[in-house]
Amino acid sequence: MIGPLPAKRLVHLDPSFSSNNQLSITSSPLRHGVEAVYRFAGQPGAAPISFLPLQIFLRRSATLQRLSRGGTPHNNPSIPFKFSEQNLKLIDEILKRYPPQYKKAAVMPLLDLGQRQHGFTSISVMNEVARMLEMPPMRVYEVATFYSMYNREPVGKYFLQVCTTTPCQLGGCGSTAIVNAINEHLGITPGHTTEDGLFTYIEVECLGACVNAPMVQINDDYYEDLTPESIKSLLTALKDAASGTGTKVPAPGPLSGRNTCENSDGLTNLREVPEWDPEVMMRKDGALDAPAAQ
Ligand code: FES
Repeated sequence: MIGPLPAKRLVHLDPSFSSNNQLSITSSPLRHGVEAVYRFAGQPGAAPISFLPLQIFLRRSATLQRLSRGGTPHNNPSIPFKFSEQNLKLIDEILKRYPPQYKKAAVMPLLDLGQRQHGFTSISVMNEVARMLEMPPMRVYEVATFYSMYNREPVGKYFLQVCTTTPCQLGGCGSTAIVNAINEHLGITPGHTTEDGLFTYIEVECLGACVNAPMVQINDDYYEDLTPESIKSLLTALKDAASGTGTKVPAPGPLSGRNTCENSDGLTNLREVPEWDPEVMMRKDGALDAPAAQ
């Protein structure tokens, strides 16, 4: 049992702290980490603790806990993983970008390749990347647990990442309407996979397509300018396509008819193309010369 923590600092910590400032932690890595946070927070004049490092720390703790327990049946270090011949060629190309003594800088593209080959960034994928780059495995775990694009558990055939950051909440019909439409259509809530294994669905922070809000990333593609109707028909098309009915899935991009992010009301200025006339549009030689002294 840890506590009590200063109440004003608790605001920035995990909301699962109880009202009497007591936190019960049984897992050893988690306990050590939170104790360290607690010690830091107790220092006179210590800055408030932001939530993001704690989130990262908790993600790492979850991975370490799994490792310390030997993993799960589908994700443990005894499951063999080797890169395919094709990916080994790609890895050779990637490693050429870095001086040999800094080859560990290739950890992110190699983890990405491993995830694409294996379906998720398993413990065996991380260990293989560590072996190839001659890095301590812990350094690879640190990278894989920091960046949210590495899935450390299996996901469905279609991995939906719905942006729910402020511009997407405010743009178009708003991301809340999209989230509700997906909940209703798939029958699952964020963080879950449909029973048929086709769809995994999470909420994410800004994906950099705010001008086409609201939007969703499905695997590597962005679908933008969404409405509850268009996201539902997109999900139906994906499901039909997966069952081999030959259904055509809409092309990625805006589903509103826009080409990119142009004004949907059309051009409001710069509508005339000026005619190019060098006699009028170019300065004459000497036009900038200082006027001759009188
Ligand atoms: S806020 Fe959704 S893409 Fe930027």
